[in-house]
Amino acid sequence: MQVGSKTHLKRMGLVLVAILALVVIGRIVLTPGTFGRYGHYRAGAIDDELARPLVHETDASCKECHEWDASYHSKGKHKVVSCEFCHGPAATHVKDGKVIGHLEVQKGGDINRLCLRCHNKAVKARPHNEKVIKLVLYPDHLKKQEVEPDHLCNQCHLVHAPLEYIKMADKMFPMLKDKEGKNVQ
Ligand code: HEC
Ligand code: HEC
Ligand code: HEC
Ligand code: HEC
Repeated sequence: MQVGSKTHLKRMGLVLVAILALVVIGRIVLTPGTFGRYGHYRAGAIDDELARPLVHETDASCKECHEWDASYHSKGKHKVVSCEFCHGPAATHVKDGKVIGHLEVQKGGDINRLCLRCHNKAVKARPHNEKVIKLVLYPDHLKKQEVEPDHLCNQCHLVHAPLEYIKMADKMFPMLKDKEGKNVQ
């Protein structure tokens, strides 16, 4: 029969129209109100981000209360490493200008682990570029200084300005260096 073939086309057409209507309504209902104000972007996302509590601060914010540590940090080689990298996020320590909790202060072997996280020559994946960062082998570095391998990095390096003590010692004992600056035996 000829008639039947037309009804099934009509039904298919109705189903397609229904799907189209659902898509159009769905789009209206589901698109956030602020979408499109600045192009293909949800404008409200900016306010959402601004409302999130701050976790990190700047080194300058630490300086307000830790003048002494910050003064060494800002004149030494570690001025490029932020306070929070080694100590953890400001949000756990200060809120509205008041101390609310403690930050991490590494002790003992943890100090060596912290330093070697960036200065370990044994990590092959790292670019070995002296101009970017100086690397040392552990414990060879300590053997070279003729000390036991259980020495901690901060026994010779001021953590906040790592060459400070070393420069001081060089000035006090210039006779321990030869013309090229190498240690004499
Ligand atoms: C390269 C890692 C590193 C950076 C960067 C760093 N610190 Fe430290 N800091 C340490 C370590 C390790 C100690 C503990 C060992 C020591 O003092 O010799 C310490 C100790 C301290 C202490 C003393 C804690 C105590 O024992 O009471 C304070 C305060 C401090 N740092 C603040 C800062 C501030 C402020 C900055 C930034 C201006 C900063 N630190 C940057 C590693 C770092
Ligand atoms: C409002 C002042 C203030 C600011 C800002 C501040 N600190 Fe402190 N911080 C203190 C005081 C006070 C202590 C001593 C707390 C104690 O002994 O109970 C301290 C202690 C510390 C200690 C020793 C461990 C501890 O938590 O007791 C470290 C490390 C430290 N601060 C690092 C930082 C760093 C890094 C920043 C910046 C992200 C910072 N501080 C910002 C006041 C401040
Ligand atoms: C987040 C990575 C990081 C950590 C952790 C770190 N350092 Fe450094 N350190 C650096 C960078 C980067 C430089 C080089 C800065 C430059 O040359 O401008 C540097 C420089 C130095 C230098 C000077 C090298 C030279 O002759 O120029 C010494 C020494 C040093 N660090 C020792 C330490 C010690 C000791 C610790 C542990 C308390 C430590 N570092 C932790 C990144 C780090
Ligand atoms: C006994 C003292 C002593 C200890 C402990 C020590 N260092 Fe050093 N470090 C020195 C001296 C001195 C220098 C200066 C360069 C030299 O003579 O090798 C130096 C230089 C460095 C340099 C720069 C290397 C270069 O190529 O110029 C880095 C990085 C360093 N130390 C990291 C560390 C780390 C990380 C630790 C802990 C695992 C550590 N140091 C422990 C004395 C020490």
